[in-house]
Amino acid sequence: ADTLREAAAEQGRFIGTALNDGLLGNAAYSAIAGGEFSSVTAENAMKWGSLEPNRGQYNWAGADRLVEFAAAHGQQVYGHTLVWHSQLPGWVENGGFAPAELREIVDNHIATVAGRYAGEIDRWDVLNEVFNENGTFRDSVFHRAFGEEYIADAFRAAHAADPEAALFINDYNTDGINAKSDAMYRLVSSLLADGVPVHGVGFQSHMILGQMPSTYRANLQRFSDLGLEVVVTELDIRMNTPSDAARLDQQADQYRQVIGDCLAVSGCSGVTVWGVSDRDSWIPGVFPGEGAANLYDDDYRPKPAYGAVLDAL
Ligand code: XIL
Repeated sequence: ADTLREAAAEQGRFIGTALNDGLLGNAAYSAIAGGEFSSVTAENAMKWGSLEPNRGQYNWAGADRLVEFAAAHGQQVYGHTLVWHSQLPGWVENGGFAPAELREIVDNHIATVAGRYAGEIDRWDVLNEVFNENGTFRDSVFHRAFGEEYIADAFRAAHAADPEAALFINDYNTDGINAKSDAMYRLVSSLLADGVPVHGVGFQSHMILGQMPSTYRANLQRFSDLGLEVVVTELDIRMNTPSDAARLDQQADQYRQVIGDCLAVSGCSGVTVWGVSDRDSWIPGVFPGEGAANLYDDDYRPKPAYGAVLDAL
């Protein structure tokens, strides 16, 4: 295979990237995004704060551009994300709404967004990051109003709005077997038992160089064994910068392991890397002194990790 997407297709899997629609005017960026990847996730454009910064005033431009780009390049679309405590518009987070009104606001949001793109989205992160590290539910405007019921309600609303989309719950630091992934396992088990339309679990997999969770494959496997689809949703492997040849090779090995673990798990349908190049990555902005986490370097040249992923697929 000459491209990541061809190699992934031969395995019956997808390989995705987080797409920043604001960068599509950059020819190098859009050529790689469209040519190498078979799925795109909106890095920010489908978050509530991007779509509806003021109540009732929607800004669809970025999300529409992404969906059009995907259609033009024969790509799947991974919707991200309907209900999340972060990157919310201020009017939702600080609105002081009574539960009954917040219920209507959330239902309307899900119906409007999932409804607009119904039929064009393969997978939706209905819920993102609902857990604390110790496995308790994270405090949020939603949890405060409804308790954990907001999770099942969101899945039901998303399913009503887009019955074709596979509905996911996504989180970070759930990559290995630990208190947080145990909580995720209990939650999705109980949702399934209750007949809630949940179809998959996303494992963000924002990794640190040299810290591959030893139970990564076993963890993906136990969720797959529940009959759920499993996706590596936001993979990157960060290191202290500047990088050097030895660490880029070590990174390539770690990327190879992640791909191998997904391929070893029958329910693992694909892997999305969180950004195209190191230049576009969110890492340096959030983890000062770290970066070089993606498959292409600052000049859009493929790194050793690119070759490793192509080879592993
Ligand atoms: C990040 C984006 O990459 C940044 O551009 C933005 O400023 C903040 O959010 N978990 C998620 C993603 O689910 O939505 C986050 O994306 C990274 C962590």
